Amino acid sequence: MAETNRVLVNELEVLFPKMRGVLGEKMNVGNELDRAIEIVATLCMNTKGLLENVEPSYREPVLDSLGIKGYVLPEGFTFLESNECDTVQAVLWATRKHFSGVSNHILYGHLSHVGKLAKLIGRELGMSEADLLSLYLAGAMHDTGKVDPIVDYIVSKPRKLSTEEKEPTQVHAMLSYLVATILNASDTTKRVALAHHEKLDGSGYPLGLMADKICAFTRIVTLVDIFDAMTDNRPGLIPKNLPEAMGEIRKWENRGALDKDVVKAFFDICKKIGLIEGEIESDLKVKSSHLVNSYDNISP
Ligand SMILES: [Fe+2]
Ligand SMILES: [Fe+2]
Repeated sequence: MAETNRVLVNELEVLFPKMRGVLGEKMNVGNELDRAIEIVATLCMNTKGLLENVEPSYREPVLDSLGIKGYVLPEGFTFLESNECDTVQAVLWATRKHFSGVSNHILYGHLSHVGKLAKLIGRELGMSEADLLSLYLAGAMHDTGKVDPIVDYIVSKPRKLSTEEKEPTQVHAMLSYLVATILNASDTTKRVALAHHEKLDGSGYPLGLMADKICAFTRIVTLVDIFDAMTDNRPGLIPKNLPEAMGEIRKWENRGALDKDVVKAFFDICKKIGLIEGEIESDLKVKSSHLVNSYDNISP
């Protein structure tokens, strides 16, 4: 077993027993790694350049999977070094292409919006330019596990998920973490992918982490993820209008699930673009993309 693979498997052996409590006994390290390799191969089929970003020790299984899918390497193909910005661009493009023609598919827009709005909140909180870039990249990669066909099948059903359906979809955080690992992403991106459904009061998944174990990048992506999910057009769900979405965020905050500073930064951004809590038309619908575009228009 390649060294990197062994490190990852060791890491997973530590994480998995904790996850089984949340996700059931069905989880298995090897299976989840195979599912993540399939996701990466699927994305590589859609955007050739992405293959460059596969971490060397995972190239062989990814190439094997591509061969099974009938993919032929372009003439003269060689692996080159590339950086995480290239990876994220390629992942976004591949996600868009993979789901093109599938009605109601929101993953590409979701990844893109979460990355951009997270960066806006980070800026409001005074983060450095380097951290803002890391935040954008992590936000734009946080849900790649949803490309998995089983997870996609369940979350794309045009209705609210039952409790039994929620459990298999929760594995997407783990799969996103593995995809980020296979694509040689930064530790921040990997951490955010794994923990973006964790809550400060320990009520989240897959690990039920408490506040001190949840980094600032994750806290921001978590809030943006919730807002985007509530306000976007998801199959079978009616998007919440802005006052409802703001009310939900306040509820999560009051319960101790969300970071107060992050929530404040979110409401400050809304205020700057004229969306003041308590003073908005009750049926006003506003999406993440609207916040990002409006903010871009007023910033110098
Ligand atoms: Fe997610
Ligand atoms: Fe998400």
